[in-house]
Amino acid sequence: MNAKVEIVKQLVDNYSYIIYEKKNCLGIIVDPSEEEPIIQFLEKNYIKPVAILATHHHTDHISGIKGIKKKFSLQVFSPSKSISGTTNVVTEGQKINFNFVNFEVIATPGHTLDHIVYYSKKDKILLSGDTIFSYGCGRVFEGTNEQMLNSLNKIKNLPDDTMVYCGHEYTYKNLEFVLDEIIYREDKKIVKQKCKEMISKKGSSMPFDLGHQKHWNPFLNCNDIYYRQEISDFHKNKGEIASDASELEFFTYIREKRNGF
Ligand SMILES: [Fe+2]
Repeated sequence: MNAKVEIVKQLVDNYSYIIYEKKNCLGIIVDPSEEEPIIQFLEKNYIKPVAILATHHHTDHISGIKGIKKKFSLQVFSPSKSISGTTNVVTEGQKINFNFVNFEVIATPGHTLDHIVYYSKKDKILLSGDTIFSYGCGRVFEGTNEQMLNSLNKIKNLPDDTMVYCGHEYTYKNLEFVLDEIIYREDKKIVKQKCKEMISKKGSSMPFDLGHQKHWNPFLNCNDIYYRQEISDFHKNKGEIASDASELEFFTYIREKRNGF
């Protein structure tokens, strides 16, 4: 893999990323909310940013664009002209080729109607914004639950060894939700403890691998016969959802439960 990824913490629990290569010192910025730490990293490492990739219009993913554009001349790829600073509007299936890394755009409406994710097959990177999180998914603000489910199923079709870089550090809270409210695991205390330790040691749970999520993320398992059975059998869900409910009913049930967690 030519591309390296720098994880940049933003605001309270947001992540921006800088994807860069050392040979020609070029970089791409993902979902910037605060320009300062991003500019600092670029200057310290002599990296010239050539583009910004934005996943959706929420302020906490785009508020750094203006400050970065003041400092550097670069392209801004986003799903909508309404995102200030956009130079290239991109949609489903479009390819964006930089010399050191290439992305394909996948439309993932649900969290917002304009939401897109950026996928690099060669480098096995998915920039997922607020569509999929580790053990969770984004809230459905603008789209329908059905749209969000379809979007997550598109992501589920990507290879297991895809490394996902998402927009927020929600991993521990999401895992707590899964283990306390969704399924039974005898060793849940140990699993939670390990997760907590991993985040504090690394400083972040990013990136996470998609293959693991295909087994453990409830929002990717609404059509899995065994996972559904586990959910409907779990004592807190008894009588709430039947194992033969539809995939969409399962998704809606879990999403609403997570909203109130
Ligand atoms: Fe968002």
